[in-house]
Amino acid sequence: MCHLNWRHLLLQQRISSLTDIFNPEMGRAFCIIWFLYVSVCECWRLPDSAPLMHGEIQSPQYPQPYAPNLQEQWDLSVPEGYQIRLTFTHMDIEASAGCYYDALTVLYDGKVLGKFCGRENSADGHHPGHQPILSPGNRLTLIFQTDKNNPELYQNVGFSAQYQAIDMDECSALPPGDGSGPLCNQICLNTLGSYLCSCHHGYELRSDQRTCMLSCAGGIFDEPEGHLFSPGYPNSPPHAVSCQYVISVESGFIVSLNFTDNFHIESLDTEQGPNCLHHWLQITLPDREPIRLCGAKSPGWITTNSNIVKLDYHTDDEGLSNGWSLDYSTHRVQCPFPGTVAKGRVTPILTEYFYRDYIFVRCDQGYKLMMDGQEVDSFSAMCQNNGQWHLPLPECHIIDCGEPEPLLNGGVTFLSGFQNQYRSVVQYHCNEPFYSLFGGFNVNFTCEADRKWRSNHDLVVSPTCIPVCGQPTKHLSAYQRIIGGSVAPDNTIPWQVLLSIDGQRGGGMVIADRWIMTAAHVVASNGNPASNDSVRIYMGLTDVKTLMVSPLYAASVHIHPGYNNPDHLDYNNDIALIKLHDRITFSSSIMPICLPAEDAIYITGMMGLVSGFGITEINNRRILTNKLKYVHLPVVEQETCSDSITSFKERRDNIPNLTNNMFCAGVPEGGKDSCQGDSGSPYALSDNGRFWAAGIVSWGVDCGQQGTYGVYTRVSSYLDWINKTMQEN
Ligand code: ARG
Repeated sequence: MCHLNWRHLLLQQRISSLTDIFNPEMGRAFCIIWFLYVSVCECWRLPDSAPLMHGEIQSPQYPQPYAPNLQEQWDLSVPEGYQIRLTFTHMDIEASAGCYYDALTVLYDGKVLGKFCGRENSADGHHPGHQPILSPGNRLTLIFQTDKNNPELYQNVGFSAQYQAIDMDECSALPPGDGSGPLCNQICLNTLGSYLCSCHHGYELRSDQRTCMLSCAGGIFDEPEGHLFSPGYPNSPPHAVSCQYVISVESGFIVSLNFTDNFHIESLDTEQGPNCLHHWLQITLPDREPIRLCGAKSPGWITTNSNIVKLDYHTDDEGLSNGWSLDYSTHRVQCPFPGTVAKGRVTPILTEYFYRDYIFVRCDQGYKLMMDGQEVDSFSAMCQNNGQWHLPLPECHIIDCGEPEPLLNGGVTFLSGFQNQYRSVVQYHCNEPFYSLFGGFNVNFTCEADRKWRSNHDLVVSPTCIPVCGQPTKHLSAYQRIIGGSVAPDNTIPWQVLLSIDGQRGGGMVIADRWIMTAAHVVASNGNPASNDSVRIYMGLTDVKTLMVSPLYAASVHIHPGYNNPDHLDYNNDIALIKLHDRITFSSSIMPICLPAEDAIYITGMMGLVSGFGITEINNRRILTNKLKYVHLPVVEQETCSDSITSFKERRDNIPNLTNNMFCAGVPEGGKDSCQGDSGSPYALSDNGRFWAAGIVSWGVDCGQQGTYGVYTRVSSYLDWINKTMQEN
């Protein structure tokens, strides 16, 4: 059972309207208080959380007659944004003039809306009739008061009324009295319990949610071109606009503004010229002072050099600006002219270079691309979005072919150019007079664009220096002898070699830079070649003592395969070759003797030069010489020599045979000859001042005797073997 009197209800109404005002936490606190309150009344009614939208009010004890001395009050409230409509279903209050004794007073905000008494159709009193009472706001206060007695016999029952919340049409309400103008600046929309302001097309609601301002149509413009204009342009200049426009295009592009002629922004004329004090269009570019535009003259074309342009249009409440309009366009950032490269070409050649343009650099023929001291294969650079080339220009440096191949026993001289640079021409030469170029002609090499030295001759790949043979730098002046010979001055027989094999003296001759030719019997012992170690080779000097200070060594010893002389009676094929351990560099003191020509002939009587370190005669005593000696002897007719040997054979044993691989040289009267120790030494014939190795000292019957001749190996018979041996070893 729940007993709830009006006070309870009123209290509940107050609380529910308070919960509207306070936050939900506080609302909850009030509910708890209410709960405690109703608990005291042993009443378990749950509070109605929804705002009260309607209700019923009756005088105490209605429909029983009301008591005297009443002073009852109801404070009604409905949610904010609603009015209260109060309708009396019945009223029966003691009628009096001005409802002086008993009355029901309806108040809003302390203001009396009506003071009622009497009955329907009663002549006196003030009955509200059927017309409902509307509260201006969401609250209403009813006060029922009665005096101490009731003069009539008739007992008045009081009143019964209903009330309900009615949506308030705020829009049709008068403007608030605070002078802030109408509720909504342009359009007011009534809603249940509230209202909304809205604006006409082209306007937007300000943050006050009441007033409208002309829409700026501002924002961000990111298209490559576009059209911007001030609000309302060219009509209805608005007041107090504050519009921002941002043109923001891709970096690498710059924005140009083209204002139309119809430009008008209020400016104040000052002594310093027009001043954009109250109205302006401000242009802001990154990293630059903003500029303010105003006046009546169109700024025309403005190039911003930026991809972001901010425009702020500002007017205040006064003055007049018709506004402005512009077309903007974009174009690519420009890079500076790249410049030129010495000995190179920059392509393409354009009058202007823009973002994303490429340039390439190529060097002229004979030049190479260099960047930061490094050679590069190719070069390209792009114009960047900051208007800078992404790389600095390279340089073109002349190429070089490097050092030309060195030439053994020769050298290189520059005919033109230097430092092995492109187009330099070098010429090879050999160290004259000891070497000469193979082929004889001068070879020029040019440094070409492919960085290779190229010869002017198709055939010559690389030049070679070949030793000059048989041409001593110093000539013998007179004819002298070994036995009956003379001491050879230095450098006159530069091919002469002194051999020492196990202490035995022999001779030889230089025929190539690694080859010595000698007699087989000099380097053979028991039919075998002497060991390399046992062979000492001397050359370059004529004095035996000084000569023997520095020997050269043998790399191999090659005896002619046909040499077979176990009893020292067969000197056929008495020829051998020694390969030197090291190559010789020729000079005045050491030069090779030429080998015989293929078709060499030994003409009887032809004078030859025989030389050696063998036995010589001093004061009729035969001793080994200390100095190189030589003698000139003629070639002897083969038959004459053969006869001489045959006649000796008749008188003496152990005389070797003369073969066609031998020839003789000497004079019938004797006194001039080679002798022991000269074996292996050269017998040189000369053609036009060129000495060739015609013979090798081999054997003889005694030395320098009348009727005997020296016997020499006929070198021309062995050309094939010599060449083959030298090639194969
Ligand atoms: N067989 C001698 C030697 O071993 C050479 C003799 C030369 N005799 C002459 N009469 N030409 O040195």
